[in-house]
Amino acid sequence: MRPCSDRIPVMTANLGFVHASRRAGEFGVHSLDHFTLAVPDLAIARHFYSAFGLHTPEEPTGLGLYATDHSHRWGILTEGSRKRFSHKSFAAWEEDFLAIRDRLQILHIPLLDPPKHATAEGLWFRDHDDQIVEIFIGEKTSPAAKSPFSHPVAPAGVRGAEGRAAAALVRPRRLAHILQFTRDVPRAIAFYTQILGLRLSDRSGDGIAFLHGIHGSDHHMLAFAKSAAPGLHHCSWDVGSLGEVGLGAMQMADKGYSKGWGLGRHVLGSNYFHYVRDPWGSYSEYSSDIDYIPADCDWPAADHPPADSIYLWGPQIPPDFIANHEV
Ligand SMILES: [Fe+2]
Repeated sequence: MRPCSDRIPVMTANLGFVHASRRAGEFGVHSLDHFTLAVPDLAIARHFYSAFGLHTPEEPTGLGLYATDHSHRWGILTEGSRKRFSHKSFAAWEEDFLAIRDRLQILHIPLLDPPKHATAEGLWFRDHDDQIVEIFIGEKTSPAAKSPFSHPVAPAGVRGAEGRAAAALVRPRRLAHILQFTRDVPRAIAFYTQILGLRLSDRSGDGIAFLHGIHGSDHHMLAFAKSAAPGLHHCSWDVGSLGEVGLGAMQMADKGYSKGWGLGRHVLGSNYFHYVRDPWGSYSEYSSDIDYIPADCDWPAADHPPADSIYLWGPQIPPDFIANHEV
C-alpha cells in the first residue's frame, strides 16, 4: 500500500479519476450504516431534526432520519425515559463480515440477541465500553469518493447573494459520522481497529481519536472523545458548501435552536462545521469538505497537539460543548 501522497489514480476514458473500491487483502466494515438513539420525546425530536433539514417519518420503531434522497435510513429515534445512545450498525461485504465473525469467535466476544424492535439481520455484541454494536452484510453507503464541495464566486457586475427569502432550505446529503464519548480512547481505538477493521486517521493523545473505513471513507466515520461514561456527543451531516453550513445555522436559529458552535473549520478532517445543540444537550453538525481517504492509500495517521484537536479557526468553544449528558 502506498502513502496517499504517492497514489496514482487510474484515468478513465471520460470520467476522470477512479480509485480502488476495496482495500485488497484486508477485512473491515465499509460503512457506518445507521445509529439508534433513544430520546424522551419524539415530537420534540421530530421538530428539531425536521428543522435541521432531515426527513423524519414515523416508523414502527419510532422516527427514521433520512437525508435528501430518502433512500437510506441513517438514524432511528426511539422513545425512552432519557436521551441515551442505543447502538450503531455497521455494514460490511460478505467476505469481510465472515472475517469479523471469525475474529469475534477467536477473541471469545459473546454474541447478543438483537435489541427490542431491531430489524436488521446481523451480529450483535458489546464493545470495550459495554456499548451495543451490530454488523451485517449490506451495501456500501459511505462515499466512494470525496464528496463534492462548491464555493460559487460571482463575476464582477453580478450580485453574489440573493435575499434571505430566496434562500433554499438546507437539506443534508447524508450522515457523515458520529462522535461518541468513551471512558478509554486507546481501548476504543484498539477495539474498533482490531475487531471491525477501522483504521486510525488522527488522534490527540488519549483525549480524542478519529477512525476511517479501509475500503474508502471520509477522514472519520466514527470518532471518540474521553469522558466519564459512554454517550453521544454529536451526529454529523454532510452538506455541499460553506454557504449551506451558514444557512443551516440560520435555519435552525430561526426555529429556536440558536445554541451551538460555529462557524469554524477543524484541523483533523479539515471540514467546515457548525454544531447545533439539540434539546438534550448533544449536537447535530452541518459538515462540509471533509478530507477523504481512498481505499488504495495509507493515511499518515499522527498524534496531534491539543491545540489542533478541536479547530483551526472559529469562535471560542462554549464552556459546556464537551459536556456528556448521558453520564
Ligand atoms: Fe464532527
